[in-house]
Amino acid sequence: MRKKIVAGNWKMNLNQADGQKLTSEIVNMIKDESIQDVTVVLNPPFVHLQGVKKLLEGASNIFLGAQNCSDKASGAYTGEISAAMLASFGVSYVIIGHSERREYFGETNAMLTEKVKLALENGLVPIFCCGEPLEIREEGTHEAYVTNQLTESLFGLSEEDMKKIVIAYEPIWAIGTGKTASSDQAQEMHAAIRAHLASHYGAEIANGISILYGGSCKPDNAQDIFSKPDVDGGLIGGASLKSRDFTDIVTSF
Ligand code: G3P
Repeated sequence: MRKKIVAGNWKMNLNQADGQKLTSEIVNMIKDESIQDVTVVLNPPFVHLQGVKKLLEGASNIFLGAQNCSDKASGAYTGEISAAMLASFGVSYVIIGHSERREYFGETNAMLTEKVKLALENGLVPIFCCGEPLEIREEGTHEAYVTNQLTESLFGLSEEDMKKIVIAYEPIWAIGTGKTASSDQAQEMHAAIRAHLASHYGAEIANGISILYGGSCKPDNAQDIFSKPDVDGGLIGGASLKSRDFTDIVTSF
């Protein structure tokens, strides 16, 4: 049975006090609503990791995640944060290859291969992001674009390692725009991603991999999107900064 996962990507937001407040509210809401069958991941900026981790103590199904890790193991790389450091701080998940990092920081599929490898070596669960820009969607070549991202960055993994990966499909034209993909569009791409994984690793492994949707997922559309057979949850940006909205999304299955 695939895991249902809802991860909140705070991006570059919240001072210390607001991050602590948001985390406390989410922990209390999820406890109050006795949510047990969904894996919740909070992905704050690096500076929040220790503070959030402390507030998650005792929250059995809420895990700490990071938004990135270096493609280097350690050493003279000013400003970088290694997968090993994240693991030492109690981080369980790490977002890799978010479209904003690919676009603004020039992350290539080859760099992402290294990041995934280091994350796995340090016991972190990669949340590997893929997704097409608007012009590719309009050309109708979005399936080939996305499956190529997977082939180039992930298909060197062993079967054992592939089983540990979480995929997040985030159509770039839906991120932060309020233009959410329809649930049928999400299902179309999730099914294509799962079929592509199956073509290389077999159906059993592909069927065990959680594929999350990201891109303007909100309380009023999450239930429809999460109802689709190949959608296993969401990677949430803006709505993850509001405790009630984020918790409502977590309860949308
Ligand atoms: O990583 C999730 C993010 O890219 C989606 O952002 O604000 O459209 O939910 P948003």
